This record gives sequence, structure tokens and C-alpha cells, in this order.
Amino acid sequence: MTARKIVSVIGATGNQGAGLIDAILGSKELSSRYALRALVRVPSSSSSQSLAARGVELVKFDLHSADVDAAAKALQGSYALYAQTFTDFGKEDEQFPQGKRLVDASLAAGVKHFVWASLPHVREVTLGRLTHLDYFENKALVERYAEEAKQSKMACSYVMAGCFMSNFISGHMLQPSHDDQADYTWSGPFHPNESHFPLIDPRVDIGKFVVGLLEAGPAKSDGQKIQAVSEWISPADIVATISSLTGKKCVATRVELETFRSFLPGDFGGPFADVLCLNGEYDYYGKGSFSHQAQSDVFFYAGLGPKKSWKKYVEENLPFPFEK
Ligand SMILES: NC(=O)c1ccc[n+]([C@@H]2O[C@H](COP(=O)([O-])OP(=O)(O)OC[C@H]3O[C@@H](n4cnc5c(N)ncnc54)[C@H](OP(=O)(O)O)[C@@H]3O)[C@@H](O)[C@H]2O)c1
Repeated sequence: MTARKIVSVIGATGNQGAGLIDAILGSKELSSRYALRALVRVPSSSSSQSLAARGVELVKFDLHSADVDAAAKALQGSYALYAQTFTDFGKEDEQFPQGKRLVDASLAAGVKHFVWASLPHVREVTLGRLTHLDYFENKALVERYAEEAKQSKMACSYVMAGCFMSNFISGHMLQPSHDDQADYTWSGPFHPNESHFPLIDPRVDIGKFVVGLLEAGPAKSDGQKIQAVSEWISPADIVATISSLTGKKCVATRVELETFRSFLPGDFGGPFADVLCLNGEYDYYGKGSFSHQAQSDVFFYAGLGPKKSWKKYVEENLPFPFEK
């Protein structure tokens, strides 16, 4: 029997990482080929321990404190790494050095396939108009660094998650309407009928793109930039789906970027307004990007089931918790 390839996962107790772990453990075939290692901050936590109970190896690791040597030690023997950094607003600049260390450590540990949770380079996509999305930029800079550093020693792939469906549950999207035209309004710098939002269920579909890249192998996956999207959908259709499944009338309305930003509090307003505008006016990955989704979908591992539709996501999350 050939030895299983070790896939190390950062953020294994969070949405994306747990989805990847479920994807591999949910398939006999995949789990006969890949063994999982979770790089976790607190191995004794209940979420880490439930991974261990499912056969996932735990290695203690913290993005803040691990230098290149410590990270390389944690990765020793790994075939692949699903690498992420996490957004701490106000400290977005920490993400580039953290990600750079992960690239260097992966090279030092002999990792063959580095899969980076990247995001679009917003200043380039928007020609410098949107400047409040440093957590996007820093992830994009890690991607650039990986491309320079990898030489021919390691394949690198980039999975750029779209707008999380969960934002409509945990976020600040829908607000009670101020008039009797609707129950809830979703406002922002988008065009209700013309904009295309790249929604994804992060808990389920991101892992299937990562598996698709692993299964395609380093030669085919090297340099691939994946638009990780479950469904492209207009704001009008997003709210229409919520309306039809909840019985609450929800509408989507355009508000110009600067006006929208002025409604929002301090540090939060910039990134929130910019990210809606990136979706609403630039198709998130760049204008027209929805029209070449098929190139990314080549790497979606459909053996684990179809993509999650927005309708199915809302159905699964009823009663839909509106903000009050
Ligand atoms: N919301 C969106 O629409 C959207 C879209 C695209 C991309 N994103 C990106 O998605 C990321 C969040 O992903 P997610 O939802 O999968 O995460 P999540 O569910 O919030 O979980 C965070 C994970 O990161 C781990 N973690 C946090 N700090 C760490 C550290 N210092 N060292 C090691 N591990 C650490 C946590 O582990 P423990 O707590 O167990 O230690 C946990 O597993 C963010 O970076 C965000 O920018 C979001």
C-alpha cells in the first residue's frame, strides 16, 4: 500500500479549513490517498479534539508566533499545505509577513503543493479607486511573493473565495426598511439588476476547489488562480430568493459609494463599502470575470456533490436571522 500524502491545513477549525477536512474525510477514495494534519493554535480545544477524534493529526501552530523554522517543523513531511491568514481589522499588514513565512517554510520543508487562500489585488482591479481593502491586497501580495520564490521546487495555486453566503446571516447586509414598501432593505454601491455577486458557501464549496487542485496534481495546478464561486447572482435575485423563502419582502437599492460610506461608522465603513462596490461595480475579480467562471470550475471536484445554490443555502438556514 502506498503511503498517504499528508495535507496540512491552517484554519482547520474554521469555515474553509473544516470544509476541506470534511471533503477529504467524506470520501473513502480521497481519505485513502490523503492524510490530514491540522495546524491549530490550541490542540486541547474541543474543536481541535473533535478533529483528532476523526483521525486528523494535530500540530500546535500560531501564525503570529511561528517563525520560518517553527513553521517548517510543523510542516515536515507534508505533501501539500492549505495556507491562510485571517483578517484582524486594523492589523491587515500582518498578513503579508505571515503568508511570506508560510511560503518560505513550505519551501524549506519540501512541500510539493502550496495552495494559498488568496484574494484579488483590489487596487489593480479598480485602478486605484478602492483603497480600504488591505486584507485583500496583503493576500494578493503573498501570491506574488510565492510566484517569485517557488522557482521549480513547489507548485503554487491560488483559491480566491467569493463573497460568503454567510455574510447575509452574520453581516450587516439587510436592515429593517424605513418605509412601508418592504420589510427589509439591502443598500449598497451595486446595481440591483445588473451587478453580479460571486456567492460561495465557504463551509462546503471552497474545500471542493482545493480538492480539485490536489487531484489535478502539481503540474496542472501550478500557477492556477481559482475564482471560488458557488453561484453568480444579482442583488435583486439574492433578495428575491430571501423574500420567497421567508415571506418577508426584501428589496435591494443602489446607494452611491461615497454616500453609502458616509452612513457607516469609522473604521468599519471603508472596508464594508469598498467590498460591496468591488462586488457591485467590478465583478469582484475584475469586470466581466463571471463570464470565464468555467475556467475555474475545471478544478471544482464534483465527485463530492454539486455546488451549493443560494436558494439551497437560504433553505438550509431558515428561519433566516434578520438583523433587528
Ligand atoms: N466574509 C467573506 O465574504 C470573505 C470572502 C473571502 C475571503 N474571506 C476571508 O476568509 C477568512 C476567514 O476564513 P474562515 O471563515 O474560514 O475562518 P473562520 O471560520 O473565521 O476561522 C478562523 C480560523 O483561523 C484559525 N486561526 C485564527 N487565528 C489564527 C492564528 N493566529 N494562527 C493559526 N490559526 C488561526 C482559527 O483557529 P482556532 O480559533 O481554532 O485557533 C480558525 O480555524 C478571512 O481571512 C477573510 O478575509 C472572507
